[in-house]
Amino acid sequence: MTSLKGKWALVTGASSGIGMAAAQRLAAAGANILAVARRQERLEELQRQLTAQYDVTVDIHVLDVRDRTAVETFFASWFAGGHHLDILLNNAGLAMGKAPVQEGDWQDWDEMIDTNVKGLLYVSRSVLPHMVSRNSGHVVNIGSIAGHWVYPGGNVYNASKFAVRALGEGMNMDLLGTNIRVSNVDPGACETEFSLVRFHGDQEAADAVYKGFEPLRPEDVADAICYVLQAPPHVNVANLVLMATAQRGATLFAKEKPQTS
Ligand SMILES: NC(=O)c1ccc[n+]([C@@H]2O[C@H](COP(=O)([O-])OP(=O)(O)OC[C@H]3O[C@@H](n4cnc5c(N)ncnc54)[C@H](OP(=O)(O)O)[C@@H]3O)[C@@H](O)[C@H]2O)c1
Repeated sequence: MTSLKGKWALVTGASSGIGMAAAQRLAAAGANILAVARRQERLEELQRQLTAQYDVTVDIHVLDVRDRTAVETFFASWFAGGHHLDILLNNAGLAMGKAPVQEGDWQDWDEMIDTNVKGLLYVSRSVLPHMVSRNSGHVVNIGSIAGHWVYPGGNVYNASKFAVRALGEGMNMDLLGTNIRVSNVDPGACETEFSLVRFHGDQEAADAVYKGFEPLRPEDVADAICYVLQAPPHVNVANLVLMATAQRGATLFAKEKPQTS
């Protein structure tokens, strides 16, 4: 087993959901955390909570992964300051809308592609050279079952997560011969702020997604992330797919029927 104690883990999208749960699990395992996202107050609260609970260092930085200059500048100064990173958790991501392509919203499309694909690339491009120079590191990309199966209205989100899957495979090939491992963790429906964001703040629409079955919790995905990170150094979990027991495909749910009186 690989110990996480004393390692430095960058978590993108640490202000909510899977990223926040992963930061908590990693800190509990003794890892120092560099948490980034756009919402400063959330990051500050996470920093307070983790440093009160665990004997680890938690640094936070407000960062929009879509902003290439900001990403480049921040990581250049982080590494110039003598810091390093052992773990990169590329988690920041979102779905926006569920309209058919012919009615799709251009802004939603840009936001998904800029965050899920280009943002992941900007961060990886900034961090990987330092892992390569140390011949050490582990990248975990959070994809989705949406990167395995397309579903109606998923179009651009699906495309972005198929891209994440391709990038995970590509990174593994490009890093052949190094000790750097790349693992894609692909969850199914997980109850976070994901659907609230997707439906532009419509709480009722978001709640309906998780009604009638027990979805994954962010902690379940965080456990899977810790599993791949803690695998022995000669083991590279290239792809881990996890779903709720009541989900068996992108649109296949065993949902309880609503009670009728
Ligand atoms: N929930 C699911 O059912 C599910 C299933 C499969 C895969 N996923 C994937 O899991 C990942 C995490 O999602 P989640 O479910 O935990 O949703 P969430 O609760 O909405 O969390 C998303 C995180 O991404 C961050 N983020 C979004 N845009 C960003 C940007 N431009 N720059 C920096 N950070 C950004 C958000 O922080 P700020 O808003 O503070 O920036 C937030 O911390 C995503 O990649 C998502 O596609 C989710």
